[in-house]
Amino acid sequence: MRDQNLWYKNAIIYQIYPRSFYDSNGDGYGDFNGIIQKLDYLTTLGVDCIWLMPMYKSPLKDDGYDISDFCSVYEPFGTVEDLRRLFAEVHQRGMRVITDLVLNHCSDQHFWFQEARKDRNSKYRDYFVWNDTDKKFPETRIIFVDSQESNWTWDAVAGQYYWHRFYPSQPDLNYDNPEVREAMKNVMRYWLDMGIDGFRADAVPYLFEREGTINENLPETHAYLKELRKMMDTEYPGTVMLCEANQWPEDVREYFGDGDEFQLGFHFPLMPRIFMSIGKQDAGSLVKIMQATPEIPENCQWCTFLRNHDELTLEMVTEEDRQWMWNFYAPDPAMRMNLGIRRRLYPLLENDRAKIGLAYSLMFTIPGSPVLYYGDEIGMGDDITQFDRNGVRTPMQWDDSQNGGFSDADTTYLPVITDSVYGYRHVNVQKQEKDGASNLNWLRNLIRIRKSSPALGYGGISWITTGDRVPVLVYKRATADDCVIVFHNLTGDPQEISVDLTQGSYQDLIVPSIRYEGGAGKTVKLAPRQFLWLRKE
Ligand code: NOJ
Repeated sequence: MRDQNLWYKNAIIYQIYPRSFYDSNGDGYGDFNGIIQKLDYLTTLGVDCIWLMPMYKSPLKDDGYDISDFCSVYEPFGTVEDLRRLFAEVHQRGMRVITDLVLNHCSDQHFWFQEARKDRNSKYRDYFVWNDTDKKFPETRIIFVDSQESNWTWDAVAGQYYWHRFYPSQPDLNYDNPEVREAMKNVMRYWLDMGIDGFRADAVPYLFEREGTINENLPETHAYLKELRKMMDTEYPGTVMLCEANQWPEDVREYFGDGDEFQLGFHFPLMPRIFMSIGKQDAGSLVKIMQATPEIPENCQWCTFLRNHDELTLEMVTEEDRQWMWNFYAPDPAMRMNLGIRRRLYPLLENDRAKIGLAYSLMFTIPGSPVLYYGDEIGMGDDITQFDRNGVRTPMQWDDSQNGGFSDADTTYLPVITDSVYGYRHVNVQKQEKDGASNLNWLRNLIRIRKSSPALGYGGISWITTGDRVPVLVYKRATADDCVIVFHNLTGDPQEISVDLTQGSYQDLIVPSIRYEGGAGKTVKLAPRQFLWLRKE
């Protein structure tokens, strides 16, 4: 099972937003060479794979998810040669790198769309989805609910409406057109030839449209994705695809196919329930969603995460829970966006190490490869005065010099955080490197411990505490030769819990000098908000 080709089943993935990571040439924008300079930092954190967010040519109407040329890079980031060197440097350090693959749409500035709108007879017209009215596909929901009223936009040049699931500047591609299907395969080949290890495939549920449906998760979409996987397996063995499908577990399950579609898939419904468990001091809803999560094929894996570059999405919770999350975690309306919350991890959890510990521990011990968001390892803050989701995309804080050491420029594309709690003078890598107890070193240690246990990486899970209210969450992770019992006291009070532990001795993985003896009905004492990982010796 721990075959090299299954490396992704137990990988620590680190998400880099290139614009914000490190500016090597003083123009105020992060760049590829800047990332190269910081790769050693990532190896010391224990990162196995980098997810590089869109680095393609783009007018940036959706921060790079609106691509105007799939085979060129955004100039301020550097050249294709720089990027090639970045891939090589990543590999030299034993890490891997995946990039975003935006299949569903392109920018309205893309040549295809420009040609399509000008001329009904152009072959590119059929690269997009047009209609004479905006009444087609009424069952389809709107994703960016704050700013969009329709998935159709009138194009005066074309004299028709075009279909888009995101901003109007992102027309959806028409996957019923075989040329589109082939063109996007060739885009993948272009990047795979350059040496990347795979893709985080953006917004995959929406590729095809069919009347009378909600236009999500259609069989045609799965068939095409399987075709992509087949191409990758045949032409680029060992490369992977990570699925971004913000859907219920049974729907995401379909994206793993019979092990012949995606290898990896984000567990979207789990993420808000981690925050709910901590806020409500009760993991009832988390346990329920995990119990409702179907088994996935042996060669597949979930990806767990706490935060990313988008709003903390609340699409996969009930209306009641959404209201609860908004009231609890986004009291200021400016913190809310679409169906979510545009805040970072540390401010959400009040900069409280105990709560943050619970969050990371849940993410690291529930089955899945953890995906970390840049800056969350040091506890960066957010800036809700910024437009859209930019407040969680501010420059990485490297040290306490100008612009947090991110850039020498007078102005940076987004201002660095300067507030009295999360500002770069207080929260930065350099300062935390020197402090053994810093957020950074604490997380490094937790990653190291997590990696030391095959059970936490590859093991199955059995739930020990279940029910409607679960203030103390206990479960077992086990492989044939490793077993860890995981405890979380979600409450702010000390707790004692009685559990049956198989005979033998257990080591506390966090404080290795502490040992427990197994046996039936053992009482385990937990401090407020303590987590405990007990490994059977
Ligand atoms: C999902 C991405 O995470 C988000 O940032 C983007 O706006 C949409 N897909 C559209 O590409």
